[in-house]
Amino acid sequence: MAVIKGRDISFSYGSGKKTLDHASIRAEAGELIALLGCNGCGKSTLVRHLNALLPLQKGELRVAGLDARAQANCWRLRRQCGMVFQNPDNQFVSSVVEEDIAFGLENYETPEEEIPTRVRAALAAVGMSGFEKRAPHLLSGGQKQRVALAGVLALNPDIIVFDEVTAMLDPQGRREVLGIIDRLRAGGKKTLVMITHYVEEAVMADRVYLMAGGNVTAQGSPRDILTDAALLAQNGLLAPLPVRMYEDLKAAGVPLERCPLTNEELVEELCRFA
Ligand SMILES: Nc1ncnc2c1ncn2[C@@H]1O[C@H](COP(=O)(O)OP(=O)(O)OP(=O)(O)O)[C@@H](O)[C@H]1O
Ligand SMILES: [Mg+2]
Repeated sequence: MAVIKGRDISFSYGSGKKTLDHASIRAEAGELIALLGCNGCGKSTLVRHLNALLPLQKGELRVAGLDARAQANCWRLRRQCGMVFQNPDNQFVSSVVEEDIAFGLENYETPEEEIPTRVRAALAAVGMSGFEKRAPHLLSGGQKQRVALAGVLALNPDIIVFDEVTAMLDPQGRREVLGIIDRLRAGGKKTLVMITHYVEEAVMADRVYLMAGGNVTAQGSPRDILTDAALLAQNGLLAPLPVRMYEDLKAAGVPLERCPLTNEELVEELCRFA
């Protein structure tokens, strides 16, 4: 069942220039969708429609069964679709972790007696139990991002959008956050949308969407999309390293049996060849 069903979405910030031009996106329940595209192609603009941060100007969009055109659905869309952004510092409203998470719950009128349990459960889900009394701004980048995600998880949305959440993190922080996204995906209960500039992160998705110039230009399995170096180049993107190595080796007269998508597959192919 499609949880996100967007068709021909066009949007302009007001200058007359179309930032989105008939973009279509769809996600089935429990899927992880990766959205790739170069700077300014409209990725954030598109996902900001999913929870009514931006109003639908043109096109059709249903999210978790709600019609995004109806102004009356705005609040419910916010609730059903949580968002985590690139800079965790911009997402905190309190100087105490547990209060920050509780704030969101209070905002959505969660019964008071449920709040402490939900705060604890959300922190446990991101591996941050014991950090309840800490100050968010004093945590590491990865820990901050996990607390921001706990704030979203506490609200139990059907959909979570990650807008370049690993962009400001070091490799350790990235691993931690990606590990949580992967666990959520394995749980199969949430529909997940991940925007990233790291093409290799998109390997973990069920489906990859490419965007360019305000439009969705291609979609398919990670293997189909990410091993197509020419398609990626047309969209201003560089293929993952194993794919580039495959292409380079082929050009040098060393054809591997199949194009590897991950480092592990690259090693396998090289060993097979040796
Ligand atoms: N609030 C805004 N007002 C006016 N123009 C905007 C606004 N936000 C974004 N834009 C413009 O819309 C276009 C698409 O921006 P958007 O942030 O959606 O791209 P993106 O694909 O998310 O890029 P990035 O990879 O850099 O995050 C850009 O040209 C940008 O300058
Ligand atoms: Mg963006």
